[in-house]
Amino acid sequence: MSDKVKIQVKKNGSVRVTGTVDFVDAEGNVIETKTDFSLCRCGASKEKPFCDGSHRDAGFVAD
Ligand code: FES
Repeated sequence: MSDKVKIQVKKNGSVRVTGTVDFVDAEGNVIETKTDFSLCRCGASKEKPFCDGSHRDAGFVAD
């Protein structure tokens, strides 16, 4: 398994993160470690910062 993390902006959708990353608070403490997930960039997700698919119903279109 590669240590390299891939971040891909999806057309009119989320930011897909492939790999394992640590979520760190303001003090530098690891609060969660997560593998392969999507981040919301449309603002409509009810599970922010993660994408829950709401961008489809919201009709999100990126510039
Ligand atoms: S990008 Fe998917 S819910 Fe916002």
